[in-house]
Amino acid sequence: MQENGQKKKVLYSAVQPSGDLTIGNYLGAIKNWVDLQHDYECFYAMADMHAITIRQDPATLRRKTRELAALYIACGVDPAACALYVQSNVSCHAELAWVLNTLTYVGEMERMTQFKDKSARHADNINMGLMDYPVLMAADILLYQTDVVPVGVDQRQHLEITRDIAIRFNNRYSPTFTVPEAVIMQTGAKINSLQDPTKKMSKSDENPNASVYMSDDRDTVLRKFRRAVTDSESSVRFDPETKPGVSNLLTIYSVFAGKSIAEAEREFDGKGYGDFKAAVGEVVADALTPIRSEQERILADKDYLDGVLAAGAEKAYRTARSTLSKVYRKIGFYRPGK
Ligand code: TRP
Repeated sequence: MQENGQKKKVLYSAVQPSGDLTIGNYLGAIKNWVDLQHDYECFYAMADMHAITIRQDPATLRRKTRELAALYIACGVDPAACALYVQSNVSCHAELAWVLNTLTYVGEMERMTQFKDKSARHADNINMGLMDYPVLMAADILLYQTDVVPVGVDQRQHLEITRDIAIRFNNRYSPTFTVPEAVIMQTGAKINSLQDPTKKMSKSDENPNASVYMSDDRDTVLRKFRRAVTDSESSVRFDPETKPGVSNLLTIYSVFAGKSIAEAEREFDGKGYGDFKAAVGEVVADALTPIRSEQERILADKDYLDGVLAAGAEKAYRTARSTLSKVYRKIGFYRPGK
């Protein structure tokens, strides 16, 4: 309950435990989870069931799931304030996805942009799960009677189909699901690649120098910034059109140092790119070092982390099972003794 006596709105978000998170993800997704956790009733999941739609090494998937949970806690996600859990630990997700499949048309799924992209990139593994990905996502969201889902633009279409499926179910049976709103995240700062500063920093970039990962140690961070692409001038000025590299570095510096772009420009006025890049590297490394050591501390405390994830799954299950029971009743599944 909120102070004004009203029930908090429900917020759902999930992240796949595959790939390594970049500082761009940190400034976008992770900080958002932290900033929103007290304003909403939050369910935060490690979407391992989504992750296996692309081939995963089992030991790596298990390790990354724990590492990601620990990273979120290290960044300030408070397990007492929200339900932090692993998707596959709550069986209702798979169960509701099956029901929702019967309200979703093959043609709709074939037309999804991300499905088409991923099919092109993984032409040797266009499995049913890949096509069904948005329905599982709809199940995630609808199980918790979610009001809002913060998403990046790339997930907007998935939110649209989630709303369509919810409305379809509500119309065919009777009002059952809250129809969720997408909140397209204004990440504030857009972080671009250090090697091609006209494109977004991505966790799946093939060039290891293009992205700074949350798991990079100090020397790696400093080295990547030293190698960052700039331009042939020598003035540290914010001008994304003609100076994308320098502008990207100024953005990174300003968010990590907590200064405005103008302040940053003044600070490096008259300095060379070498000094500038070293300073950006330092401020990022200084921010990441305590997060990494906190993450390592949490990972070493197996009882604590397992306790958090078990409690999160239990809390999620209570809500999810209640929605699923309603769904089963409405569609006519027989339960002995009921
Ligand atoms: N597909 C999302 C992504 O890759 C992760 C995700 C799974 C998700 N289930 C969700 C996001 C439900 C929001 C709501 O980013």
